[in-house]
Amino acid sequence: MKFFIDTANLEQIREAQDLGVLDGVTTNPSLMAKEGITGEANIKQHYIDICEIVDGDVSAEVIATDFEGIVKEGEALAKLHNQIVVKVPMIKKGVKAIKYFSDQGIRTNCTLVFSVGQALLAAKAGASYVSPFIGRLDDISSDGLTLIADIRQVYDNYGFETEILAASVRHTMHVIDCARIGADVMTGPLSSIEGLLKHPLTDSGLEKFLADYKKSNG
Ligand code: E4P
Repeated sequence: MKFFIDTANLEQIREAQDLGVLDGVTTNPSLMAKEGITGEANIKQHYIDICEIVDGDVSAEVIATDFEGIVKEGEALAKLHNQIVVKVPMIKKGVKAIKYFSDQGIRTNCTLVFSVGQALLAAKAGASYVSPFIGRLDDISSDGLTLIADIRQVYDNYGFETEILAASVRHTMHVIDCARIGADVMTGPLSSIEGLLKHPLTDSGLEKFLADYKKSNG
């Protein structure tokens, strides 16, 4: 399972990269705005900066919602760096653009996916990744993890190569459950990855080992 971090914060990306388990980064317009990254030139430079930190795919989202606009923006984003994956929303023009990009060899991440039908369309169009937002489904008393399981089954039925990128991961149990179900990738905050480290028996065990060493070695 690949681990992506869902942020545009360079410090957090560096921290996750330093841990040695990071496979990529996802961003979105809200995450870019949160870091105060505005204006086309700054936004593009920020994507390049992210690519230079992480050794893996970096999703950069288009703003346009018409076919020509998505294609123009996506081609410009893809040219920035070979690690860029063009993030395209699950709308009619987006599906058409994903097919176009796929024919051109430009990799895509189909975002804002909330149903199996949408995931099926994204795969048919040739998306490299599909991003079902599990946390946002949980937020409205729906079941994000069941969606991941259903998409897994449909993709396996037909051998679709589109990777299931479990997005809107909010905590460590989401990561573990996604791994159990067979999501190819998860993207979440640094805390969801670091939470995997924690176990009280590890802490107490280490404390005892170190204390025993000290006792016998002075
Ligand atoms: C996916 O790529 C999105 O950037 C992200 O996972 C959305 O997460 P949120 O629902 O926590 O905003």
